Order: sequence, then structure tokens, then C-alpha cells
Amino acid sequence: MRRLAFLSGLLVFLLAGCSRSLAKEESPLLILRYADNQPIDYPTTTAARYFSALVSDRTEGKIQIRVFGGGELGEELEVLDQVAYGGIDFSRFSLGTFSKFQPQTKVLQLPYLYRDSAHMWRVLDGPIGEAFLASMQRYGAVGLCWFDAGARSFYTTEPVNRLEDLQGKVIRVQESDLMSEMIRLLGARSVQIPYGSVYSALQTHKIDGAENNIPSYQFTGHYEAAPYLFLDEHFRLPEVVLMSFAAKGKIAMVEPSFVGVVMQCAKEASLYERELWRKAELECEEKLKASGCTITYPEQAEIARWREAMRGIYDQFAGEDAEIIRQIQSQ
Ligand code: GCU
Repeated sequence: MRRLAFLSGLLVFLLAGCSRSLAKEESPLLILRYADNQPIDYPTTTAARYFSALVSDRTEGKIQIRVFGGGELGEELEVLDQVAYGGIDFSRFSLGTFSKFQPQTKVLQLPYLYRDSAHMWRVLDGPIGEAFLASMQRYGAVGLCWFDAGARSFYTTEPVNRLEDLQGKVIRVQESDLMSEMIRLLGARSVQIPYGSVYSALQTHKIDGAENNIPSYQFTGHYEAAPYLFLDEHFRLPEVVLMSFAAKGKIAMVEPSFVGVVMQCAKEASLYERELWRKAELECEEKLKASGCTITYPEQAEIARWREAMRGIYDQFAGEDAEIIRQIQSQ
């Protein structure tokens, strides 16, 4: 908590410093755009603003990064396209969506792959996480850092207390084949819908439920239409911050050493986001309870049945991928 208070204070300080720097600089030499589909006060967007403030401060106001939240620059798939072409400079993505562009990242998001958050961070902060960030060059961007997005669970319009209750239900998933397959294995039907359209799909009963982490469920208001949360925590779905190649080139033209500065600022923003995330998870869970949501904390024996049902997904991974899975599991 004290660390969080310190970091929040630092953000205010940097934001203040940033405006001073900008005043001193008159106008920045480069203005870049950063996209996020979460509201501007969500942990990932708050961390993005912290990143922007750090960059401004350490480049003496020469580089300014404008953060656009709430999906203002488009849904994740559209934004990913734009980042590849250099139309948008930075973005934060869910790996669920990103795997459409780089299928190899699916191995990082298998159900019940990580034992807990600490296990996931050991993997992402270690050689495997670094190798995956570096591999994003193949997609056409620079992988800067990972953000936390906790664990995802199901939420529905009718109560779900055991696996049988999910049978035949229509569940929204990200635009991800892996997720659709997981829903099929659980005996339900999947519909792939962009994040920004899930609320209306719940309200109009086009779907019976969806799955996401606790802060997303709370911030989006999905709980109003689907007030039953079943905390099975099937996925830990990391998120990644990308920088377009075009942005990297533009930054280098201002001053070659600024590329390294921006990359370092992103690493620091990642640590800040993790702190914010832990706090948001707890606060949002309390808010959900206060709003009258029913949260079910399933017994381990019930979770074991869900895990068993989803096990088939692992059969699709062979060769090099199977080896990475083995390495992750052994950490
Ligand atoms: C999370 C994630 C979003 C993503 C969403 C989804 O909320 O932070 O970036 O779009 O999941 O389920 O689509």
C-alpha cells in the first residue's frame, strides 16, 4: 500500500513535472498516440499515463505520448492493424486478441497454465517472457512490456454453480479460436464479440454470459446484466504493450538514445501497473459485493472438473510448443 501511495505521488509529481517541461520546451518535437480499450481510470490506462509522464520527463518534454482510453481509437483488432502499419504508435493488448496475429502466443494463455500470479510473473519476467516480447518483431512491432490482467472467470445472467449449469449456454469470448474451443469443451456455445459490444449483447440476451477478470467485469458494468460471477479463474491472460516500428524510427530521429529511454520507461510502467492491479482487484470485488452481485467461490473438487473438461486444448500443442509448456509448468 505504501509503495502504491509512493507511486501515485510520483505520478502526480511527474505529471506536474511534465507540464513544467512542456512549458519550458514550448512544444514537443514529437507527439505520439497510445491506444487502450479500457476506461481512462482503469489500471492499464493509469499506468499508460504514468508511462507517458515518465517519457516526457526523461526526454525533457521533447516526446509527448497522448493516451486515448475507452477504445477511442478503435477495438483491439482494428488498433492492432494500425500499430502494424504505424498509424497508432503504442497500444496495450490482451494476448487473447493478439494471438490472432501471432498464434504462437497461445501457449502463454492456456487454461490453468499458471498455478498463480507469482508463477505467471516468474515466467513473463524470465527468459520465456523476454523471448516472446522479442518475437513480436515478427508481427511488425516492438514488444515493450507485460501488464497484469489477473485471472478470468465466468459471469452469467443465471446462476452457474457447477459445470452442468454451463451446458448449452451462449458465452461471449474474445476473437480467439482458442477461447471458442475452450467453451466447446465445457459444453457451452461461444460467440466471438468485440469487448465494446458485450454489454449490449448481455442486455439484449444475445448471450447468457461471458468471462473476464474482476476489474473488467466491474468497470464495464457487465455485472448489472449478468450478476452471477463464478470464480473458476480458468485463464491468466497476460497483456502486452507494443510500440510500432514507425514510432521507434521517429523517436530515434529525435535522439537515438531516446529509444532506450522509452523502453526503460515501459518496464517501470509495468511494475506500477502490477501494483495498481492488485489494488483494483480487491476494490472491485468489494464493489461487486456491495452492488448485490453473487460471487461463487468454487470448491477445488469442482474446479478440478472444469480443468479436466478443458484438458483437450493442450493436445493441440506439439513439438516446440509442447516444450515451452513443459518449461512453464516446471517453473
Ligand atoms: C480484458 C482486456 C481487454 C480485452 C477484454 C476482452 O478486459 O483488458 O483488453 O479487450 O479483456 O475480453 O476482450
